[in-house]
Formats: sequence, structure tokens, C-alpha cells
Amino acid sequence: MHASRTPSRTGSEEPSDGPPDGPPGRPYDALVIGGGIIGLVTAWRAAQRGLRTAVADPAPGGGAAQVAAGMLAAVTELHYGEQTLLALNLASARRYPEFVAELEEASGQDVGYRACGTLAVAFDPDDRAHLRELHDFQRRLGLESQWLTGRECRRLEPMLAPGVRGGLRVDGDHQIDPRRLAAALLTACERAGVVFHHARAERLTLAADRATGVELPDGTRLAAERTVLAAGSFSGRLAGVPEGALPPVRPVKGQVLRLRVPPAYAPFLSRTVRAEVRGGHVYLVPRENGELVVGATSEELGWDTTVTAGGVYELLRDAHELVPGITELPLVETRAGLRPGSPDNAPLLGPSALPGLLVATGHYRNGVLLTPVTGDVMAEVLTRGELPDEARPFSPLRFQSAPVGPTTPVPQEQPT
Ligand code: GLY
Repeated sequence: MHASRTPSRTGSEEPSDGPPDGPPGRPYDALVIGGGIIGLVTAWRAAQRGLRTAVADPAPGGGAAQVAAGMLAAVTELHYGEQTLLALNLASARRYPEFVAELEEASGQDVGYRACGTLAVAFDPDDRAHLRELHDFQRRLGLESQWLTGRECRRLEPMLAPGVRGGLRVDGDHQIDPRRLAAALLTACERAGVVFHHARAERLTLAADRATGVELPDGTRLAAERTVLAAGSFSGRLAGVPEGALPPVRPVKGQVLRLRVPPAYAPFLSRTVRAEVRGGHVYLVPRENGELVVGATSEELGWDTTVTAGGVYELLRDAHELVPGITELPLVETRAGLRPGSPDNAPLLGPSALPGLLVATGHYRNGVLLTPVTGDVMAEVLTRGELPDEARPFSPLRFQSAPVGPTTPVPQEQPT
């Protein structure tokens, strides 16, 4: 990581001279803390609306998207009690084709969007009963999902194990390559004039009980009318944020593998295939370029991102049960990332309890899926000051039980 006193200007115009300890000229209209896909889409949309926008991140384009599989699985990842989140997930899934077209045009890059659908299968009677219940629930909510016999599943995906007893065909759950998405958003931001400060935000700065920007590790202060906290699972520990305004997010570790399908084996799978195996979830996401992503563990282990033998073993064991032929494929990458989990598994979007501080975090298992709608919602709230109706249930204020209190101290050690 390196901290830059001078902004690394990648946008269209260099800021004019200004005071040494602040952004040149006047405060940014919007300063985004965190250059993962959520921070970048927020910055891109804000800049498109004419806001003078900056991002602070030591390595923009990184974050959880570098590990994520990129399933756009609003229907197959439906959970009981999450119908409010489902509405937002579906709204974002509907926007995806247009979002992709606009982003590819703005960046000149292919983001690997694949309208391939998903097949969720079951092996033993318990898994089958669970899947049947999910199917009933989906139908009650008016979602498109078709029950298939084991034989029909294998006709669709011949590499599936013979033990498959049935499954759900969901033709509307697609995929995108999150690494390409992040790279394209970075370029789109640069082309839209977003200023990048390649440094970690050390601390939020305050004046008269209002957020005024951030301080970087070298003491540089970046002033902003509105600061957006979009630092994924690290959003819950930014120094200087008063207790009542700190988003209650925690890291949830996910280990993910990447295999490669040699051309001679293609087409190995034609759509995303997933299953519940011994209570855990396993999914295989085939890309057009031959990458096959296998995910994911879900572990409450704090900030640990170690790839473990046990995690890799479980993923390969479950994936092998689903598609035995994976043992022939080269294993090209093992990696762990941190999902930003919130208390109700839904994101936090919009103004916090602290004037001048907004939040876009807590996307948990749906960060890639929710990228388009998050960009639109955050641009709306940054320009008009109000959350659009679709995002009102996701206000960070739903977790606020006490008035904004004292600020959090600077931690001894900050994640990077
Ligand atoms: N949405 C997939 C995961 O979080 O593993």
C-alpha cells in the first residue's frame, strides 16, 4: 500500500492548486471510502450525475469481488424471512442487462455477463424435501422456477452425478465475472473523472457533529460535503465514526476455488449448478473462458483469510459429489475473502445517523447482484438527499438504537 499526498488523478481534469492539507479548491461533493465494486459503482454513478467525486483506497478494484463467484442468484439464494431483500435483489437482477451494456460501453471492456440460468439439485431425501419446500415458496412469491426429475437434470447437465434425485431449473439466475466487473468499473470511474487517492482512510474527520471527510495515514485530509463509507466488512471499524453511526457489519469468510476446463472437456457445464450437501452449500459457476469457480465456505472467523486444507477438502468433496468429473480438471487457484455480513443479511444504504456520512455496505452474499441497484440508489441519495422508495427498508438507521455517541478510537492495527 502507499499513501499519496497528491491525489493519483486518473480522471479528466487535474484539480487546481489548493491548501496542502486538503483537496485542492473546494471539498469534494462525494468522497467514497473503499474502491471495491460497491464503492466504485457509487463513485461512477455520482460522477455521471455531475458530482465532484473521489475514492480513497490503497488498491481500488480489489476487495471481496476478487474472490466472489459472481452468481446473480436472486431466486436460487432465496431464504425464508428475506422477502424484503428479495425485492431489492430482483430489482437489481432486472437492471443487469442494461447496466452491463452501459458499463461495457463506458469502459470498453467485456464484463463476462452470461445469461445462462442456474440448476439447483438435491441428492438425498432430506435435500430433496428442502428443495421442494423452496420451490413451493418461490412459486407462492410468483418467481419463475421449474421442478425437474433427476433424469431431466442430467439431460440438461450430463456431467451431474447419477445420484441426483431432482432439481430446480431457474432460467433467470445468471452470472457475471466479478473481477472483470471491478476492472470495468475502475475504468468507467476514471473516464468519468473520479479522483483516486491510493491510500487507506485512517479516520473520519468531524466538525460540529458533522462528517467532513477523512484523514489519510500520512496526515493528508480530504474534505468532502458527503462521505460514503463503502469499505465492505471493514466499514464497521473506521476510526472517528461516532458509535451510533458505525454500521454493524462483520466479516464472514468464504473460501473459493478456481478450476480450469481444458477445451477438450468443454462444454463441461452449461449453467451454474448448485446443491445443498450435508447442510452446506456448494456451487459450480462455469465461465465462457474455461474458468470453473467452486464455492464457498461460510465461516465466522473474524478477519482470518487463511485458505485451509479443511476448507479446500470440503469444497472439493462436495463438488465431486455433485459433478464427479471435476477431479480431472486443473486446480488453478484457492483464495478466501470476507463478505460484509449485517445483522439481517441485507445491505445498509443511505444516510447514517451522522450528518454528512452515508453508508453503502453490508451486502453480505449479494454484493455482485446488488451492484447496479446500489449505484442507482446511492447516486439518488447523494444528489437528491433522499432514499428512493425501493431502498427505504435498507436505511442504516434501522439499526440505530441510541443517539450518535462518542467517536471510535483509532485502532492499534487497521486492516488494509
Ligand atoms: N453468494 C454466494 C456466496 O456468498 O458465497
